[in-house]
Amino acid sequence: MSRTSQPYRIAPSILSADFARLGDEVRAVITAGADLIHFDVMDNHYVPNLTIGPMVCAALKPHVGSTPIDVHLMVKPVDAIIPEFARAGASFISFHPEASEHIDRTIALIRECGCRPGLVFNPATPLAYLDHTLETLDLVLLMSVNPGFGGQKFIESVLPKITEVRRRIDACGKPILLEVDGGIKGDNIARVAAAGADTFVAGSAIYGAKDYAGAIGAMRAALSGVRA
Ligand code: DX5
Ligand code: ZN
Repeated sequence: MSRTSQPYRIAPSILSADFARLGDEVRAVITAGADLIHFDVMDNHYVPNLTIGPMVCAALKPHVGSTPIDVHLMVKPVDAIIPEFARAGASFISFHPEASEHIDRTIALIRECGCRPGLVFNPATPLAYLDHTLETLDLVLLMSVNPGFGGQKFIESVLPKITEVRRRIDACGKPILLEVDGGIKGDNIARVAAAGADTFVAGSAIYGAKDYAGAIGAMRAALSGVRA
């Protein structure tokens, strides 16, 4: 499978970290080899769970160094919180199209705030939302679980969807990241990469392991066998 973007990236989701020690937990996965810090924002409205907001992002910013913060917004409405996350140090800000009344406007707002926009697709959300947006994005995030909780099982039907998005990104020719989120482990990451993904969110598989570097290293070892 051809790929217009750079090498594989691993993005630990702090949803599965020890929330009482978040700064330490973020530094630990960066030391262990994380490429991005995935920051799951849930509002108990768009998704049935409530997590962390811009104040926590700002508090973690001094702990991440140059590692980008990858904010995944599961909130509705979404626009008002975007400048807050930009001020808090987010690099990528992704949102679900169902959570925005004006998708193009929300993408432009993220860009105007100095961040890199991403659009997120739930397992049953159609890719038609990419028809008029792809060239304006820096990231497409495909959910391989229904959003709201860590530790769920990978939904296999996302694999052909990954391949279709890879085809669209390659046709577009821009270095847009193709990230997959939910249920990714050392034993399925190679299949996700072979389908066309280049960026992998993993929460429970990394923070649930005793040895973070070991978990990330096992993922990289699995990826090294994938033919790009
Ligand atoms: C789910 C979140 C995911 C989650 C992934 O709504 O968006 O980022 O933390 O966790 P695992 O890797 O445990 O499925
Ligand atoms: Zn996420």
